[in-house]
Amino acid sequence: MLQHFFGLVYLSTVSQIVLFTGTHADECPLQFNPQRAVVRYGGPVSVNCSTSVQHDGIGWEASEGAVPMSKDNLITWRVSNLRDLDIEPFCYINLDKQCQIELPITIYKTPDSVSISTVYHIGPMKEGNQYELQCDVLNVAPVQYLTVKWYKGQTLVNQTTFTDTIKTPVNETATLMIRPDRSDDGVQYRCEAELDLGEEGPRPPPKVTSKPLSITVHFRPIIIETKLSSVVLQGYPVVIVCEAEGNPKPTISWNLGTNNPVYSETLTITDSTPEDLSCIANNSVGTDIRHVKLSKQGNSPNYIACVVVALLVLFIGLFLCVWKKLF
Ligand SMILES: *[C@@H]1O[C@H](CO)[C@@H](O)[C@H](O)[C@H]1NC(C)=O
Ligand SMILES: *[C@@H]1O[C@H](CO)[C@@H](O)[C@H](O)[C@H]1NC(C)=O
Ligand SMILES: *[C@@H]1O[C@H](CO)[C@@H](O)[C@H](O)[C@H]1NC(C)=O
Ligand SMILES: *[C@@H]1O[C@H](CO)[C@@H](O)[C@H](O)[C@H]1NC(C)=O
Repeated sequence: MLQHFFGLVYLSTVSQIVLFTGTHADECPLQFNPQRAVVRYGGPVSVNCSTSVQHDGIGWEASEGAVPMSKDNLITWRVSNLRDLDIEPFCYINLDKQCQIELPITIYKTPDSVSISTVYHIGPMKEGNQYELQCDVLNVAPVQYLTVKWYKGQTLVNQTTFTDTIKTPVNETATLMIRPDRSDDGVQYRCEAELDLGEEGPRPPPKVTSKPLSITVHFRPIIIETKLSSVVLQGYPVVIVCEAEGNPKPTISWNLGTNNPVYSETLTITDSTPEDLSCIANNSVGTDIRHVKLSKQGNSPNYIACVVVALLVLFIGLFLCVWKKLF
């Protein structure tokens, strides 16, 4: 039933279209080939206007390339260098009375330049802050068919379209808000101005791409935990390492509980090193701190002394017993 219903709707739509074009053709029996002209500014164009009915003359009216009235059934409007952006060519036919059809025409101009820049900001960006990128497209027409595409590396991240119907070339600006994070350091942004002129337009659509804009992102240090492995001290000096990722490169220091931090990525641990210490990674953006608890074990000198004393006591005891028994 439903299918039937849609079938009916479809049929009536189709018949309406047929009816419409039918009456249109009855009104003025002219055809364009191509049906719509898409011309590069300053480029060539040629469009045929033809009829299949008996007539008293057909012709083209246009500010450039007009074709005088002719008895032929096909006449061609031709311009080798189209520069009139407001051109409105039409084809007419003389029957009982005259009728005419205007040619749909789009004259496009690819941008002279496309450039990308940051707005209100110079130099490195800081992770988590918001910044504005700007794309300037100079001298492009018609802006109605313009799409500005934003790429981060190879990824399309956003696009901007324009609704202005002005025919003359204009300058347009598109903006993109970004909030870079630490992984975006060194990433390249670019913008691309594309004119999508429809089926009659050039394929692929003409486009102009900006030079890439590399961004530098400053981010606070994060100490790489896995590198701070647990420490086993065996009576010998051990070197521990503290590494951190940050931009700019962090300064690494060790706090040993004294007033003098040790500025080094590595720290040599001896028996006199306090058990509680921390690594500090610092740059202009922030600071990261990790506490390290040393586990001292094994043959420390105290342990050896203890064993020596214990053995000595045992030996003296034994000696005393044996001595008493003998004498
Ligand atoms: C216009 O007509 C001429 C002459 O018949 C033909 O050679 C040409 O291919 C036609 N152009 C188009 C766009 O159909
Ligand atoms: C894309 O841009 C539009 C307007 O310019 C904005 O509303 C939208 O949030 C943006 N989308 C993304 C994913 O940035
Ligand atoms: C577009 O910008 C350029 C350079 O800034 C300028 O010379 C030109 O006049 C501008 N065009 C329009 C239509 O504003
Ligand atoms: C961290 O860095 C800032 C600026 O770079 C400096 O003023 C501060 O003293 C540093 N702090 C430490 C603990 O190194």
